[in-house]
Amino acid sequence: MKKRVLLQVAAVALMGGCIASAVHAEDTIKIGLVLPMTGPFASTGRQIDAAVKLYLAQYGDKVAGKRVEVLLKDDAGVADTTRRLAQELVVNDKVAVLAGFGLTPLAFATAPIATQSKTPMVVMAAATSSITERSPFIVRSGFTLPQVTLGVAEWAAKNKIKKVVTLVSDYGPGIDAEKTFKERMLLNGGQVLAELRVPVANPDFAPFLQRVRDAQPEAVFVFVPSGVGSAFMKQFAERGLDKAGIRLLATGDVVDDDILNNMGDVALGVISSHHYSAAHPSALNKKFVEAFGKANNGMRPNFMGVGGYDGMHVIVEGLKASKGAGGEALLNAMKGQIFESPRGQVLIDAQTRDVVQDVYIRKVERVNGQLWNVEFDALKAVKDPGKSK
Ligand code: DHB
Repeated sequence: MKKRVLLQVAAVALMGGCIASAVHAEDTIKIGLVLPMTGPFASTGRQIDAAVKLYLAQYGDKVAGKRVEVLLKDDAGVADTTRRLAQELVVNDKVAVLAGFGLTPLAFATAPIATQSKTPMVVMAAATSSITERSPFIVRSGFTLPQVTLGVAEWAAKNKIKKVVTLVSDYGPGIDAEKTFKERMLLNGGQVLAELRVPVANPDFAPFLQRVRDAQPEAVFVFVPSGVGSAFMKQFAERGLDKAGIRLLATGDVVDDDILNNMGDVALGVISSHHYSAAHPSALNKKFVEAFGKANNGMRPNFMGVGGYDGMHVIVEGLKASKGAGGEALLNAMKGQIFESPRGQVLIDAQTRDVVQDVYIRKVERVNGQLWNVEFDALKAVKDPGKSK
């Protein structure tokens, strides 16, 4: 008799527990944020994590009467880990959306999980053109390499630069940048004397810079991923390429705002094109840079931070429209969003799910004792030109 009562009590308690956790689950919307927080690309993770936290601090974490909860996971930049973490977030944590993805191979590895589980996947950092074609559930809030390379390639043509060498990291975004730059050069009557590809991990630029020097181009066009630009610039200066009259042209990844200020005079005058500079002269950006610095010991936001901040905007506004639902309802609510970002106006193209944005031409200048990418020209509302169809 006693035993039966106890069992009943236990059963009721268990049910109560289930109801309590069901209520709790109903009350929160989970975002699975997978980033390289350690390893060689930790600066990307640090920037995006800080931006996501800032967005929620500024705009609140309540959507459709529920609390937004971000589950941050560190993949250390290893694709197998990204895939495993994304799987766990979908199956165990039942996240409404996956987000982050610091490098192309990490986004590629996760795309099938988004498709199979019908979970929207917001790519905040990885920038190879074809990523959005890997799953109909992928939306991109950052940029693509073909998109940002156009600007500096057009600048080269306008400035009568005819002979160039390209030097890129040997994987998706580098190959996209190389291809776009070359196509534009040839179209504009220029010549590519050599196409150099350097390993992604721990690159030693010295032998490649020697080959650049030997080819005697007017300029070298460079792409390396965020964070790697410091090592590149150091070796560029050590090899004396700046003194040899070879002009450095780059995508903004090389003169990334996270590291630019520590590069020293070698960076002065570098022309790059990109979708975001911390020096972008809009009121919204000034507020963003100030708040980001205040919350992070003076850290300057870079383009990765903005990709994270805007990715949160796309997710939160999407959740408002879907009344807190994930899946296809959220995906559809993310398509076609237009908003003002710290970088300028941004559109999520409803057809491609990719980002359409202005691309700025910038020059590194010292302003009030600090190095900045000062924007001086822009291509308006650039769609990714790299899509296969
Ligand atoms: C990628 C990573 C970067 O850090 C970057 O600046 C551009 C592209 C990528 O892996 O897609």
